[in-house]
Amino acid sequence: MFVRRFILRSTRLTLEEYSMDKMRTLQKSLLALCLFASAMASPTPKPTESLEALQIVSQGAQLFSTNMIKIVAKEQQDNLIASPLSANIALTMAANGAAGTTEEQFRHVLHLPSKTQTLTGFQQLINTMNNVENVTLNLANKLFIGKDFPVKSQYKQDLQTYFHSDIESVDFSQSAKAADTINTWSKEKTNNRIDNIVQADDLDSSLALVLANAVYFKGNWAHQFDPKATTDRPFHVDANNVKQVPTMFRKGNYKYVELPEHEAKCIELPYANKEVSMVIILPDKIDGLAALIDNIDAVMLDCNVRLAQTYEREVRVYLPKFKTESKLDLGNTLSTKMGLSEPFSNSANFNGISDLPLKIDKVVQKAFIEVNEEGSEAAAVTGIMLQTYAMVYEEKFEINRPFIYNIIKTSSINEETGVREVIPLFVGHVANPEY
Ligand SMILES: *[C@@H]1O[C@H](CO)[C@@H](O)[C@H](O)[C@H]1NC(C)=O
Repeated sequence: MFVRRFILRSTRLTLEEYSMDKMRTLQKSLLALCLFASAMASPTPKPTESLEALQIVSQGAQLFSTNMIKIVAKEQQDNLIASPLSANIALTMAANGAAGTTEEQFRHVLHLPSKTQTLTGFQQLINTMNNVENVTLNLANKLFIGKDFPVKSQYKQDLQTYFHSDIESVDFSQSAKAADTINTWSKEKTNNRIDNIVQADDLDSSLALVLANAVYFKGNWAHQFDPKATTDRPFHVDANNVKQVPTMFRKGNYKYVELPEHEAKCIELPYANKEVSMVIILPDKIDGLAALIDNIDAVMLDCNVRLAQTYEREVRVYLPKFKTESKLDLGNTLSTKMGLSEPFSNSANFNGISDLPLKIDKVVQKAFIEVNEEGSEAAAVTGIMLQTYAMVYEEKFEINRPFIYNIIKTSSINEETGVREVIPLFVGHVANPEY
């Protein structure tokens, strides 16, 4: 949900005011998807290389984000809150331990550059995100390793150095206790907003490790809404249903643009740090949401580009207060709809993590958002569970040269000697097969 801001270009502006009074069809919190932070925010001087890496991974994160949202938003008929960034970071940690064609798939789906650039880029991204003034923005990563499971030290070191990840050993066979350890971490990193990211049932001794990412955001609006101005107003759930919902009101200067080609308009509501804002995309028609979701990549791109080009104008904003929680099972989405199938299969190659065979069992995300007069609070945790699997060797045994054969009768194993008696019934060889 953190989409990098686009380059500023100058443009003309339309001077007509429109009122969000006509706020109609936001039955899904599409707006929550569009909360965006500019990753290039704090201009601490950095070597060009890491700046370039940051730009590349930010662009990749943006592409992954729209791809993921396009699919997830379509699947979720109800309200939705998700954090593609959280999924992206957790998956990139897994990708860092992948090899061969498994790694290639990760690189393709996550739009990752070379391994060095990926590591540097994510290090910069996490640093930047964790240093945004005037709002609270925290990204945290953690690797939970099954007791006695051998993880390569280079992998652990990369996670610590580049993803600022903590590492803890847990006993997955004690599933209730292990779930509690992971859930306690989730709660701590999200101001208690995300709990039960894993259930005891999800965990057993086949589990080798859990990679987790938490994103927490809390920001006050640059211009808060006056609670006294909040009143019940009609909200058109669909063409036939209207309900009264507590709706905030503020008259003030905001950036908003019309997107006639998408039959929509969008507005940017900044937080106390002007580089972090909520962008709301409102379809013109009451039932226009589905069409917007179908085209979400273009809609978000056009909206962000045009917002960056426009100026603030006075507008009367009516915005419903809302709270949303989602639980997403991303494993299916990733493997069947986004092209990340191999990491979930028995051909998965996570050689960078361990010499023992590993594959992804589940990818789960829980997310929360609350939007009110003061501002917004949003949190997400993504957990990736990796389990060991029995390697299936597909070896070839091609009899294509002269060979010997026996037909034998065996006895059961002799308990004392540990060997079985073999009585050959026939013995022969084939030097030149004839039939
Ligand atoms: C943070 O808040 C201060 C005080 O209100 C303000 O001057 C400053 O511009 C804000 N920083 C950003 C990046 O918006």
